[in-house]
Amino acid sequence: MLLEVKDLNTHYGPSHVLQGVHLEIAEGELVALLGRNGMGKSTTLKSIMGLVKPTSGSIRLDGSEIAGLPPFKVARAGIGYVPEERRIFPGLSVLDNLLLGVKGGRMADPNDPNAWTVERIFHHFPKLKERTHQHGGLLSGGEQQMLAIGRSLMGNPRLLLVDEPSEGLSPIMVQEVRNVLADINRAGVSVLLVEHNLKVALSLASRVYLMSKACVGCQASAEEVKTNAGLRAKYLEA
Ligand SMILES: Nc1ncnc2c1ncn2[C@@H]1O[C@H](COP(=O)(O)OP(=O)(O)OP(=O)(O)O)[C@@H](O)[C@H]1O
Ligand SMILES: [Mg+2]
Repeated sequence: MLLEVKDLNTHYGPSHVLQGVHLEIAEGELVALLGRNGMGKSTTLKSIMGLVKPTSGSIRLDGSEIAGLPPFKVARAGIGYVPEERRIFPGLSVLDNLLLGVKGGRMADPNDPNAWTVERIFHHFPKLKERTHQHGGLLSGGEQQMLAIGRSLMGNPRLLLVDEPSEGLSPIMVQEVRNVLADINRAGVSVLLVEHNLKVALSLASRVYLMSKACVGCQASAEEVKTNAGLRAKYLEA
């Protein structure tokens, strides 16, 4: 297994938000983490990334324990993170935003044809290439999302954690971001995706984890979620 999360508990002060989360991602998989608002999806990603310190439990990347490591060490171990808020640098050019992504992540092997470079990112994101020297802040919401994803790829992650990438985007940009994620996954990057847009999530993921108060490690196939209205009513619908 590339990522194995076992019995993960995270608190915010007295509030016990993650109560024994279990999940696994195999090399090359794209897995979705779904659930209603406030169930702890973002907290799960932050706990894996080391942005929030878990109280207990195990997070193994390729067999090595990473729970409790600071975020820069988690990044160097091979995990990239695209937060919900995107957080690109509006006053820096597209190129400089991408180059900043090299810093936190894994050093690419210069002989590896699959290493992520600016050229390779521009190949996957032609829209960004057109805007190489423009300030990030001038990009549309969808383009900023592409930039945030591109920047995280510059750290050469084996696993990318992506939080609500389609939030606030126009339908066309939602499709483009969806296609970019499919493309990146085909290129060999494993993905853990939190996504409210069920259509997008189920069109990308093979497996799904459903988060709720009652169930922290409930798994389903994308097909089951598509076809089982009861399952959707129980875990996903308001
Ligand atoms: N920094 C924080 N301090 C205290 N409580 C927090 C903090 N961040 C999140 N929470 C609480 O933890 C719970 C889980 O939040 P989280 O953001 O992980 O949920 P989520 O599943 O990502 O929700 P959404 O679908 O709305 O993004 C919520 O009750 C939230 O209010
Ligand atoms: Mg969230």
